[in-house]
Amino acid sequence: MKIISVVGARPQFIKAAPVSRAIRRHHQEILVHTGQHYDYEMSQVFFEGLNLPAPDYDLGVGSDSHAEQTAKMLTRLEPVILDEKPEMVLVYGDTNSTLAAAVAAAKLCLPLAHVEAGLRSFNRSMPEEINRILTDRVSQLLFCPTQTSVNNLKRENVEEGVHLVGDVMFDVALEAVDRAEKNSTILGRLGVGKKEYLLATVHRAGNTDDLASLNGIVEAFLELGEPLVLPLHPRTKKLLENTGLYEKLADAKHITLTEPLGYLDFIMLQKNAVKILTDSGGVQKEACFHKVPCITLREDTEWVETVTSGWNVLVGADKTRILQAAANSFDGAKDCQGIELWDGRAAERISSIINASAY
Ligand code: UD1
Ligand code: UDP
Repeated sequence: MKIISVVGARPQFIKAAPVSRAIRRHHQEILVHTGQHYDYEMSQVFFEGLNLPAPDYDLGVGSDSHAEQTAKMLTRLEPVILDEKPEMVLVYGDTNSTLAAAVAAAKLCLPLAHVEAGLRSFNRSMPEEINRILTDRVSQLLFCPTQTSVNNLKRENVEEGVHLVGDVMFDVALEAVDRAEKNSTILGRLGVGKKEYLLATVHRAGNTDDLASLNGIVEAFLELGEPLVLPLHPRTKKLLENTGLYEKLADAKHITLTEPLGYLDFIMLQKNAVKILTDSGGVQKEACFHKVPCITLREDTEWVETVTSGWNVLVGADKTRILQAAANSFDGAKDCQGIELWDGRAAERISSIINASAY
């Protein structure tokens, strides 16, 4: 079968790595990069670090408003799909690249497969929640990472084509952790010791674009009692600079600001952190995988299993709650590797189901 896979943002390159490898054993894959992320540290570094094949098409869409960005993706994707005549389109996660490819495929009456289907934060002010709901509505194959995501779809009366396959990001983490341990020099480069620092990431629009939230998070970071490593997403860096908060972070002796990091360096930092503070979806799961306590700078999560495991707490952007969680113990947390089908074989399952599908 000829399959067009569409990626465009950092977490999608990571998710695509094991799936692309698995489906290329049986099918012809055409990889399309929308160009949503384009800085070396947000894109190419993952193709190199995870041995992802070079994209067959780079649509070069770049940054813009939601409408402009999604519309450009749609108009640039349609001719590629018409030229290539695939039998299926494969999308990942919940970004604007996901939504654009889903709509393009659905309008051309092509079967659509969605990796990470059924996730819901039940917060429609998140652009990602809209992208998830709309993509799932037009998907024929819905690859769910958790039983909760299967249940969410059932509640929306979607049962046909739904498959619980496990989490592809878990596949990548399992495969890469030893490689990171052997090859990454990040701890030495940043001058931090194992289990001697906190690690943080922030990029969610609800945090960066709301000054009170951004302020709450920055104030908490400034008051943390331990060294903090903070690789800055370009969106966050821009907003910190525009609001005068960047300098405060840069001047703090206990804070190390870095560019966004490659995957192996980042998982090395995750694995060896005392605690992780984040609003990222992927990082919440990876913290759980590495058995590192996670303080999630959001009021909701699609990854509820990480919370019930005891490794993750939701604290929003409130300074006091963040600092309290940073001081708390996470004793008694359970192993996230016990979550059903989080066993490193999600991509294989996806490939087998595609092989067996009638499309
Ligand atoms: C996007 C996804 C989000 C995902 C995140 C992963 C949507 C709506 N959001 O958010 O779900 O969690 O990617 O990281 O699709 N920029 C650069 N260089 C880049 C990319 C972005 O400078 O290579 C800056 C631009 O100023 C841009 C801003 O970051 O306007 C935001 O980028 P965008 O892709 O629109 O959204 P993300 O916040 O990255
Ligand atoms: N990540 C990375 N370098 C960084 C920050 C994150 O490699 O500097 C990885 C992280 O390990 C995870 C993924 O990027 O696999 C998460 O992406 P992001 O937080 O951008 O998006 P989300 O998961 O929130 O959609």
